[in-house]
Amino acid sequence: MTYWNDAEVRAAFPALALQDDGQPRLYADAPGGTQVAGRALDRTRQAMVEQCANEAGVFLTSQRTSQWMTTAHQAAAAFLGCDADEVVFGLNTTSLLFHFSHMLARDWQAGDEIVLSRMDHDANVGPWILAAAERDVTVRWLDVDPQTFQYRYDALGALIGPRTRLVACNHASNFLGTINDVRRIVAAGRAVGAVTVVDAVQSAPHFPIDVRAIDCDILVSSPYKYFGPHAGLLYVRRELEKRLKPLKIRPSPDEMPYRHAPGTPSFEAQLGTYGAFEHLAWLGDRFGKPTGNSLRARMVAGLEAAAAHEAELAVRFLQGLARIPQVRLYGIADPAQVQGRVPTFSMTIAGHSAADVARTFAVRNIYVWDGTFYAWEVSGLLGLRESGVVRIGFAHYNTVAEVEAILDVLRGIVAAG
Ligand SMILES: Cc1ncc(COP(=O)(O)O)c(C=O)c1O
Repeated sequence: MTYWNDAEVRAAFPALALQDDGQPRLYADAPGGTQVAGRALDRTRQAMVEQCANEAGVFLTSQRTSQWMTTAHQAAAAFLGCDADEVVFGLNTTSLLFHFSHMLARDWQAGDEIVLSRMDHDANVGPWILAAAERDVTVRWLDVDPQTFQYRYDALGALIGPRTRLVACNHASNFLGTINDVRRIVAAGRAVGAVTVVDAVQSAPHFPIDVRAIDCDILVSSPYKYFGPHAGLLYVRRELEKRLKPLKIRPSPDEMPYRHAPGTPSFEAQLGTYGAFEHLAWLGDRFGKPTGNSLRARMVAGLEAAAAHEAELAVRFLQGLARIPQVRLYGIADPAQVQGRVPTFSMTIAGHSAADVARTFAVRNIYVWDGTFYAWEVSGLLGLRESGVVRIGFAHYNTVAEVEAILDVLRGIVAAG
């Protein structure tokens, strides 16, 4: 086990020190959005105080903005394992996917097919369904096994064929927590020349991403899920990007990163995201084993150290849940299989509505989600779309003591009947 120090990690997040009427906060809402690292806040402030200007002017603040924009794109490329001209910052993942769906669907023909998954957040489903409907393109579905909470990989051969234009899938589920074998899905799509899209919104906070290893054409993530500001980050393979006709206005530059980022971007979000990457690199320096001095090596080490800590939290939580039979978990429950999931746990508690359970936590200043979190297909598949679930999610700033406190509350809810 690598060295880890909760107090030091938590001190890197100003929000973790806040109290309300003397009550500390327990943030178990990470899959909805994490707390923001101090380094990300510092960089956001820098963007808005020290260099608040549009880029590409001749004066100091504007030039600084241009330089930092380049730096932020380079750091994002290091985070994803690609080149800076393959990175697009946007408002959020949903709007980036809408934007790209519009460009990609332009050359779809009636009778073509796309493959979508029933495990995805609707951000990686809805935009493609709308685009398919406009072009008379057939949607085919990659299903989820409700017993194992895995994709039905054995169906890929029958689903993907010569007419498949796009295959979209999920790296880690925001509902089930399952980590998926996206390489396998991407390889099946690329074998027939389909564009492959991976939603990494829920994996990026928990383990390193390597787009070259995944070999996808597009990969999306949202920095506000990994300790940064509200923004979206999209990787697009250079060869694909060159083929796309951008949705741009006439005077705006035709080069990356401007080509697919219409209008004035949120410079503060780009710099804030850079700060989130600095946080991950710091984690690597402090608690990990970087294989070199590069930003990527340090971030990878940071995420690996975080993953080791999160695995400990997940094992404790799963062991505790196993002793509360009234709790039904939707996702991998075996602590021995913890490597197959992220620490995101959706559950129902017999005799209690999800909203009531979340409220019971809220009065103790413990923040957990209830609902279906736009995981439209999988919540429907499991018959949970109306009732919803309680979702408890951890990040590397959570502690074993917090896991135990949450288990205590769950036991109390069950005991109260
Ligand atoms: C897996 C997944 N994909 C996409 C999204 C949508 O991201 P955004 O809010 O950046 O549009 C979310 C948000 O929760 C998500 O969990």
